[in-house]
Amino acid sequence: MSSKSKYNKNVVIVIASIAATGGLLFGFDTGVISGAIPFLQDYFVLTDSQVENITALGLIGAVVGALFTGRITDYLGRKKVILASAFVFATGAVWTGLAPTVNQLMISRFYLGLAIGVSSFAVPLYISEISPTKIRGTLVSMFQLLITVGILSAYLSDNAFADNNNLECWRPMLWVGVIPAAVLFIGMFFLPETPRWLMSKGREEEAKKVLSRIEDPEFVDASIAGMKSDMAIDASQEGFREIFKPWLRNALIIAVGIMFFQQFVGINTVIYYSPKIFLAAGFEGAEAAIAASVIVGVVNVLFTIVSLFIIDKLGRRKLYFIGVTGIFFALICMGLGFMLPGAGKWFLVISMLVYIAFFAISLGPLGWVLITEVFPTRVRGLGSSIGSLSNWGFNTLVVWTFYKMANAIGNAKDVVVPEGKDLSEVCPSCVGGVFWIFASVALIGLVWGYFYIPETKGISLEKIEEHWRKGGKPRDLSK
Ligand code: BGC
Repeated sequence: MSSKSKYNKNVVIVIASIAATGGLLFGFDTGVISGAIPFLQDYFVLTDSQVENITALGLIGAVVGALFTGRITDYLGRKKVILASAFVFATGAVWTGLAPTVNQLMISRFYLGLAIGVSSFAVPLYISEISPTKIRGTLVSMFQLLITVGILSAYLSDNAFADNNNLECWRPMLWVGVIPAAVLFIGMFFLPETPRWLMSKGREEEAKKVLSRIEDPEFVDASIAGMKSDMAIDASQEGFREIFKPWLRNALIIAVGIMFFQQFVGINTVIYYSPKIFLAAGFEGAEAAIAASVIVGVVNVLFTIVSLFIIDKLGRRKLYFIGVTGIFFALICMGLGFMLPGAGKWFLVISMLVYIAFFAISLGPLGWVLITEVFPTRVRGLGSSIGSLSNWGFNTLVVWTFYKMANAIGNAKDVVVPEGKDLSEVCPSCVGGVFWIFASVALIGLVWGYFYIPETKGISLEKIEEHWRKGGKPRDLSK
């Protein structure tokens, strides 16, 4: 596409914003539970392991949702699947908030988790397929932006409803999720299917109509022709099994790999446990620690906005290397922050914010952008769902092993934790050591990225497919 192309900016932005509400739900529903837990726990009189089950069931729901619906989005279309997920988000928010028993709470969190898993790949996929090539990265990054806005609104909603005199205050915290779900459902109802999916079903006239609402009229026919020729080649192939063929091996490695590094640099230990980390670093009292976590949420949103402006200018590779290098140094400093006494706590807070900023401009948006870009149309739904599935799987693994890793370091140092104390109080450096493990993952990520991060900036989805067919290497994509 030439640089002179005049796409219909306003229509495209409206479409992307509505669809990206799916990101807000993803962020809100994963984040909201952290503030609800202390109240839930007292209300239902739960043990720690029951609490862990409630949290884990939401994540398992997401894994299942991503696992079983990839092919459905290829059959039924992107729009119907997003509509269905909005319905599950809305009813799930009502149900979790009403849950009369702990079992119902667990089942309803699982149900809600299904929607999180589905929307986390169907929404970026939808946006990617409906965006003009030139601003595709920016628009898919809006999904990431709304994830971060969702996390921040969850922190704020938790703060607003938290009431020590009312053990049922967790119910309204969860109900707030109905609002974005309704916006997504109603908005999506009026949005079109993506031109690429319509073409894959032979609905050329409709595809043209949608495309002419968003693309520069000059490019409509060329885009349709590009899609057609890809479809013709795709049709001669073996359906969904195609994704495991050698020519798509790099696409698969990129989708799973980017999510591996996105999660294994430890982002969610900071997002989910930041109040605890602040306490371990020497902050006094839960209130100060919770307030400090709101700052984490704000920095996350602000730097994701920065990424919107640079992703289609700097390109994916540069952003990746700048971001992961920053993440590496910030993680080293975070580890040090735990080890230094006294002044260490400010050093820790500042390095944690620097870490979040670098994540927000790089691995955060890039994960979701790349999984929608690297697969050919016919298996794009399936491919993105594999990326999303990896995201949830790795996320669960990291969050679940964080304290175990700290404990292992403690054991190696023969640290004894007296009853009633936390490992982090007795041995902050054991927690700090985990951040050095994450730092070494970032270092490996830099080497991996050199070989596997493709420069997809300004390259049409059809061209990317062609590159794989010719056996091209990821790092040569834009050459
Ligand atoms: C990640 C989430 C993370 C969020 C933080 C997303 O890209 O997939 O796991 O919580 O970024 O902003």
